Amino acid sequence: MSQTNNQWNTELYENKHDFVWKYGSDLIEILAPKQGEKILDLGCGTGQLTNQIAATGAETIGIDNSGEMVEKALKNYPNLKFILADATNFNFAEQFDAVFSNAALHWIKPPEEAIKCIYRALKPEGRFVAEFGGKGNVEQISKAISEAIAAEKYASEPTINPWYFPSIGEYSTLLEKAGFEVNYATLFERLTPLKGGEAGMRNWIAMFAGSIIDRIREEYYPEIMVKIETKLKANLFKNDLWFADYKRIRIVAKKKNY
Ligand code: BEZ
Repeated sequence: MSQTNNQWNTELYENKHDFVWKYGSDLIEILAPKQGEKILDLGCGTGQLTNQIAATGAETIGIDNSGEMVEKALKNYPNLKFILADATNFNFAEQFDAVFSNAALHWIKPPEEAIKCIYRALKPEGRFVAEFGGKGNVEQISKAISEAIAAEKYASEPTINPWYFPSIGEYSTLLEKAGFEVNYATLFERLTPLKGGEAGMRNWIAMFAGSIIDRIREEYYPEIMVKIETKLKANLFKNDLWFADYKRIRIVAKKKNY
């Protein structure tokens, strides 16, 4: 089991999906943290990027709504602060110079509530720097999964889309409505190689689409995986390597007092 009802297999996450924070390193360059700044890492996972930010001399707090992730982050970096918190409902007594978030906001609904909390957490003119799945993210994978389980017999319950992949227009509008000035917004493709050779796609699905796939009756699981892989092979399997058709949104915004 992996990502189901907010329960994460942190070992699988760290061993097979380390690209999640490796790609996040260039987002830290955009954040450009400075010595002594207070920075909140929203959706910190197992803490690798929080640690990289802290290494610049910034004071960090990492938050995540998975107990397993927070526990592992504390084990990985015992000198840093990590707190279990819901991104749509958190409140700190202190305010931050920046809120940073990598590969987390596509899990968080409703986005308006998260944006409200981020706004409140920032000092005036504080910056919000985020990257997550944008419009069209994992479109081929999602389509293959839904087509493969479309037949009634496979699923014990209707599937629910667990993700939020907005366009830059949609997300910028939400930020502006909340009082942010949007300084930078982009949407770009990032075909992402998956570890595990032949098993790469099923590992990704188990890790990240658990809440969809767990609705499939167990006896059909192997059959469905083969169906999904067959649909995706021509486009997403090259030289013994699976790829995920990621599309990322990157946003930089500043808290204003309109
Ligand atoms: C992403 O990082 O884009 C992503 C991760 C898991 C599920 C869907 C998207």
